Amino acid sequence: MGRYAAASAVLLILLVSLLPVESRPDPLIRLPSDLAAAGRTDGGDDAVGTRWAVLIAGSNGYGNYRHQADICHAYQIMKSGGLKDENIIVFMYDDIAYNEENPRPGVIINHPQGGDVYAGVPKDYVGKNVNVKNFFAVLLGNESAVTGGSRKVVNSGPDDHIFIFYSDHGGPGVLGMPTYPYLYADDLIDVLKQKHALGTYKSMVFYLEACESGSIFEGLLPNDINIYATTASNAEESSWGTYCPGDFPPPPPEYWTCLGDLYSISWMEDSDKHNLRTESLKQQYQLVKDRTSADNSGSMGSHVMQYGNLDLSVDQLYLYMGSNPANDNSTFIDDNSLPSFSRAVNQRDADLVYYWHKFKRSPQGSQQKLAAQRDLLDVMSHRLHVDNSIELVAKLLFGSEKGMEVLKAVRPAGQPLVDDWGCLKSMVHAFETSCGSLSQYGMKHMRSLANMCNAGVRKEAMAEVAGQACLSVPSNPWSSLRDGFAV
Ligand SMILES: *[C@@H]1O[C@H](CO)[C@@H](O)[C@H](O)[C@H]1NC(C)=O
Ligand SMILES: *[C@@H]1O[C@H](CO)[C@@H](O)[C@H](O)[C@H]1NC(C)=O
Repeated sequence: MGRYAAASAVLLILLVSLLPVESRPDPLIRLPSDLAAAGRTDGGDDAVGTRWAVLIAGSNGYGNYRHQADICHAYQIMKSGGLKDENIIVFMYDDIAYNEENPRPGVIINHPQGGDVYAGVPKDYVGKNVNVKNFFAVLLGNESAVTGGSRKVVNSGPDDHIFIFYSDHGGPGVLGMPTYPYLYADDLIDVLKQKHALGTYKSMVFYLEACESGSIFEGLLPNDINIYATTASNAEESSWGTYCPGDFPPPPPEYWTCLGDLYSISWMEDSDKHNLRTESLKQQYQLVKDRTSADNSGSMGSHVMQYGNLDLSVDQLYLYMGSNPANDNSTFIDDNSLPSFSRAVNQRDADLVYYWHKFKRSPQGSQQKLAAQRDLLDVMSHRLHVDNSIELVAKLLFGSEKGMEVLKAVRPAGQPLVDDWGCLKSMVHAFETSCGSLSQYGMKHMRSLANMCNAGVRKEAMAEVAGQACLSVPSNPWSSLRDGFAV
């Protein structure tokens, strides 16, 4: 690797020296690393337009501590990279730092030995203002379409670079939001295309952590709109929480929730220490992919994927994240010096881990223990109910054998999840009307619902069989439709 790079450098110098003088590269055009050597530590803003960052934690609740921790950590990276607060837009529910369960009030950590990442994070969109409509309005720079919050939007111009980082639960074709409805892939792609049509960015990078996150871009993100995306997982697998109780390394003993997510902390711990002026998106992708990948037994980890315009992956990270002057002298090493993980928790099971540890550690006979036990049982029964209802619906629609086939079918790579997104959304609505909310966990069944659309089922048929499969909406809080539908 090193020898190859050295050889190409020698070759390049030879080629350049053979060129006639007038066509040699302008000595004023310098590599980012040369700019750093020349003492430019302002992030080179004059050279690259403005950098914008949109950071979104799509969940709430202490059991989802890790998503907001990821987002706060990302803010600290952008901030130390030299981005200005006016160019960083943060969406987080903001119910973690001062949550009664947080052992360190006012502090959020994203690593077992890590410092506070919450300090200074702008509260642009918090609580119910963390929603799909605001996210889209912010990205499109349409201030009049925003409701609540700081009203900060991506007011970008044609030379600007935009970085988006989203961390949450998801399912095939869908990403969570703390307030309904959820974010659907087709709507997101549509907004990205609109943003491109406005001509208000030069290039955009989208980092996405969620289960089945590949499905958000697979067969959907065009490669000609200057967007490069990487995702925590492919289109059909879970992503992983990390620094969870019982993992190695575990969080400090007073925490009973996961502190981070595997893909997210992998890119961030890499960005924290490397010189982002010399490290490319591609190099980071490779490091993150290795660190996040399944171990040999295949029992944990996921396949980090890349989508869109892969030509952009040669860009240096500093174009998007700026660079921390403290890392100017660090050299990029291919060999990932960051620790690997011996355990992590499937994103979808992280809430079970949370309720279980909360239950186990609460004092015997306390109100807290009773509440934790009730929560654990509610979550379990919600899961069973959703799984069984979807299965029964499929069997009613297709018969026992074919029904199971339809549930489990996966389209070949490169194809989108569903052809008719309107159908998928109407399926979700019809199912939830009779069977209750899919909620965070139930997003995993989006592919089954999509397969039903692909097989020609329509919402009327779904409404009818869902009515037969579910005689009433279960009374547990997870199934409740009080907060709205997933569409
Ligand atoms: C901004 O949003 C408003 C309200 O949704 C809409 O009427 C308007 O057309 C949008 N403006 C642009 C430039 O898209
Ligand atoms: C980087 O190296 C240069 C030259 O040795 C030195 O002057 C500078 O202080 C170093 N910067 C940092 C942040 O360590």
